[in-house]
Amino acid sequence: MEKFVINGGNALKGTVKISGAKNAAVAILPAVLLSDSPCTVENLPEISDVSTILKSMSALGADIKAINKSSVVIDPRPVKSYVVTKEMAEGMRASSYFLGALLGRTHHARVAPPGGCDFGVRPIDQHIKGFEALGAKVIIESGMVDAKAKALYGSSVYLDKVSVGATINIMLAAVKAKGLTVIENAAREPHIVDLANFLNSMGANIMGAGTGVIKIRGVENLHGTVYSIIPDQIEAGTYMVAAAATGGDVLVENVTPKHLESIIAKLVEAGATVNEYDEAIRVSMKKPPKKCNIQTMPHPGFPTDMQPQIATFLAIAEGTSIITEGVWDNRFRYVDQLTLMGADIQVDGKMAVITGVKGLKGAPVKAVDLRAGAAMVIAGLMASGITEITEIDHIDRGYERLTEKLSALGAQIKRVVVPKPSSNLKQA
Ligand code: EPZ
Repeated sequence: MEKFVINGGNALKGTVKISGAKNAAVAILPAVLLSDSPCTVENLPEISDVSTILKSMSALGADIKAINKSSVVIDPRPVKSYVVTKEMAEGMRASSYFLGALLGRTHHARVAPPGGCDFGVRPIDQHIKGFEALGAKVIIESGMVDAKAKALYGSSVYLDKVSVGATINIMLAAVKAKGLTVIENAAREPHIVDLANFLNSMGANIMGAGTGVIKIRGVENLHGTVYSIIPDQIEAGTYMVAAAATGGDVLVENVTPKHLESIIAKLVEAGATVNEYDEAIRVSMKKPPKKCNIQTMPHPGFPTDMQPQIATFLAIAEGTSIITEGVWDNRFRYVDQLTLMGADIQVDGKMAVITGVKGLKGAPVKAVDLRAGAAMVIAGLMASGITEITEIDHIDRGYERLTEKLSALGAQIKRVVVPKPSSNLKQA
């Protein structure tokens, strides 16, 4: 087991390059199973969620060859199995995408229920609603979700809640269904558009991705393609907030500024200087942030996956800020850890009231989930003194070469092995 040790108080300065988007990669890789020939996927981030998905695909029988550290060629033709076990899925949320991909491929999928960050309940009722609308029978038996269909027919599906996962899974099941599928109240995140572009490059016929209504006209076959994943909106946002929170000056390269509009707006409202370029954003800040209120919402609203990071930044704002979590039931579990570092945050249900303090102090804390872990790193960079962060495997799920990228910006951060507690039981 490892931990991060951060000696805080250094302003981040310099340039950081953003990697491929985790939430696009974990949807596009399973989508390769729908192809009748090999696909090349480029700009994959080197993160554990991607290696988990690739391991699952190889266990299903796919032939996977790495071209370099961020590109693979996947031949799905040898895939015979349609079963993704709990061990294969390793408790990640995106394993649910194998349901839509395998159902779309051979009309049968048997997948362990998805895991992922713990924000309270993470149901898949909208995914199942979509599969059933396309003609599948879905049952949950012996701890597995089993979706089966004689054939899949296009249909209209209205999502009761805007759901990224359900939108993605229905797209995967519908691309080869007979006829037209319309997803209404669809999610509009950049990774939804990236998946639609990937599928269309394989010969799919998807219109409207990025809007609330996505139309999918089923096609007989999908062929191989070469495709490069979009930059990671949340990794970019995390470095932008870290730059402002440490009073630094950072050029964040390899980004799509359009995906960052809500994050830029809030940083500017808090008093940061933000310059936009074609594929880069520069963030600098010299004084403490001003308070601001934030409501997280589905895209194009302020992303829930940036909520812990921006809350950490506002912990040292002048005045009181209010953050309302509009997507998840319980995404403030990290607040207890921030309090250990001197933050003054009161949580009441989906609302956090943040009373700004002069500064945070280093302390031993833990990453309770992926983005909470990123927030702890930002807190450690902002704080005076030493911060140790354990359970960093959460962070490794979504941030490529974090210590390397931060050290290049002047951060004093290192990864240290946590010695196993010595058993003091005398040998019998
Ligand atoms: C995706 O999760 C992301 N994960 C999450 O990012 C992100 O927080 C979330 O979308 C919202 O943007 C991946 O893309 C792998 P949802 P997902 O379905 O698809 C409810 C990260 O940090 N809901 O959009 O699971 C659900 O409970 C991770 O990278 C239902 O009620 O999220 C939630 O309240 C953390 N029924 C809301 O909808 C369903 O069938 C949004 O969930 C599905 C969802």
